[in-house]
Amino acid sequence: MKFPITRNPNTRFDSIDWNKLGFGVYFSDHIFISKYKDGNWDGGQILPYGPMEFEPALCTFHYAQSCFEGLKTFHCLDKSGKPTGYANLFRPDKNAARLNLSGERLCIPNLDIDFQIEAMKELVKIDQKFIPSKRGESLYLRPFIFGSSNFLGVQASAEYNFIICTSPVSSYYANGLEPIKILVSDKYVRAVRGGLGFTKAAANYAASLYGGKKAKEEGFSQVLWLDGVELKYVDEVGAMNIMFVIDGEIVTPTLEQGSILGGVTRMSVIELAKDMGLKVSERRIAFEEVVEAHEAGKLTECFGTGTAAIISPVGQLTYKGVDMIINNSQIGPISQKLYDAILDIQYSEEQDKRNWTVKFKL
Ligand code: COI
Repeated sequence: MKFPITRNPNTRFDSIDWNKLGFGVYFSDHIFISKYKDGNWDGGQILPYGPMEFEPALCTFHYAQSCFEGLKTFHCLDKSGKPTGYANLFRPDKNAARLNLSGERLCIPNLDIDFQIEAMKELVKIDQKFIPSKRGESLYLRPFIFGSSNFLGVQASAEYNFIICTSPVSSYYANGLEPIKILVSDKYVRAVRGGLGFTKAAANYAASLYGGKKAKEEGFSQVLWLDGVELKYVDEVGAMNIMFVIDGEIVTPTLEQGSILGGVTRMSVIELAKDMGLKVSERRIAFEEVVEAHEAGKLTECFGTGTAAIISPVGQLTYKGVDMIINNSQIGPISQKLYDAILDIQYSEEQDKRNWTVKFKL
């Protein structure tokens, strides 16, 4: 697929602090955009990144008919660590399919999966100078869709924009792999069964902001959300799925709960851990069980998994005013092993035994 390209005359490259990328702070020179009208998506084009004009009655401003994805692309490196002129996308088919899953729940029309992946590749090619080459850094792709009709009656939009922008990133958390402190919320909820929790709807993130702000004021990086009905069972962290190592076994909430995002890193970690001979169980987890395991000395590790966060060790969980320190607030051996395994696959073709990465010429 070839897409028309309008080049950005003013590169953003020089305004980037490459030693301090952070997450989602800088953006590359171009976006991909395709518009849906009269029942069809157009063929798409590449345009300069920059301000866009919308009417005040844009339905998404009012009713949040919007969902997004996040995935990463990496330079393929040779044995000496030098870029080979090829890039890798990590499991883009999974993200493209999930965009459609979210879209279906939000009454947003589906987009062909190959079309989405071609759009990603072409956009990365044109902005290839923005792919960082240090291990742990990447070019993050943010595909998203929103209703673009203008009206105030509550209904699904007739028109949509599908956009991909890209951002050179380092680690999601300011202190990289340093274990984070998480507040287990016994007050606010992120999602309920039957709602949007299993999708990557923008509205899920809006729902998490207030509880997240309160937690940050108390010195926590994130909130662990419990189920929205009984506030009893573990759901997810919002920016990540959550896993516990209890008695040597990895335990993580089952997607059957209906309120948890099916993370691409989550599914990859489960497969890698099983291949490493570790026992993994996906099931409902009452948070009290985690508390009991901690008291009995059986909770040896806890970590989040996500595209942005990769593997993020959790050094402290605080629930109802009680702090639970995990593994002396140090990264544990299982978290470290899984982190290394994911990065090895993302940066080196040789390690990718499962063909998870899609390699393409820059
Ligand atoms: C991701 O991991 O890609 C996410 O979308 C999580 C967060 C940055 C919203």
